[in-house]
Amino acid sequence: MSGFHVAIAMDGNGRWATRRGLPRPAGHLEGARTVRRIVEAASELGVTTLTLFAFGSNNWKRPPDEVAGLMRLLEQYLHDDAWKLIERGARLTLIGRRDRLPPHLLASIARIEAASRDGDVHLRIAIDYSAREQIVQAAAECAANVLSLEDFGRRLAGGDEAEAVDLMIRTGGEKRLSDFLLWECAYAELFFTDVLWPDFTPEHLAEAVADFHRRDRRYGAVSQAAAG
Ligand code: FPP
Repeated sequence: MSGFHVAIAMDGNGRWATRRGLPRPAGHLEGARTVRRIVEAASELGVTTLTLFAFGSNNWKRPPDEVAGLMRLLEQYLHDDAWKLIERGARLTLIGRRDRLPPHLLASIARIEAASRDGDVHLRIAIDYSAREQIVQAAAECAANVLSLEDFGRRLAGGDEAEAVDLMIRTGGEKRLSDFLLWECAYAELFFTDVLWPDFTPEHLAEAVADFHRRDRRYGAVSQAAAG
């Protein structure tokens, strides 16, 4: 396998906090700690691209305090952790809309993307992200041109190699994609777990990856055994 792309919908922060009688932002804070552990573990498991769903375009509908808290956590992450990852050779990029983000967050992102351009292991953070919006935007940008599926995928990934997802993990018990990487998941293996994101450990990730390696990926063809 040349690259191994894992995407994670990190769900369950709110419930984790509520079950402990804590306010929801406490769940996001613990969720950010999980991000640190999982980013580390992912590269040890051979993941070459990791896409994390940190803030969906629909999340603007949450209470303003919760939104502001999430933006602060993202900024903190970009300020503290991102640079350590870059030192170790990672590339960091943002996917999603940029025009509604706080200016200081945008400035951090621009610096990080420029400084990490040549990194090999790729961490993508989805902020103000909607897969359907991204698809419509990419379609509008190339309406006049005839494109291959690969070109269109690359356009969706902001000019990168088309980032087809190999394994999509969703924590928190729901079994849906919620407008996350719809195009890129065309042939993704899906892994749903009831574990809430703050409780998700490197061992859980290893379990999901091991499960992935047992799957028979046929892409519409027949398996080798059946082909004889
Ligand atoms: C979903 O849980 C989670 C989010 C909307 C935010 C995810 C953010 C983080 C994990 C922290 C910051 C991220 C980074 C990259 C540092 P929910 O609140 O919908 O949980 P619920 O379904 O239990 O209410």
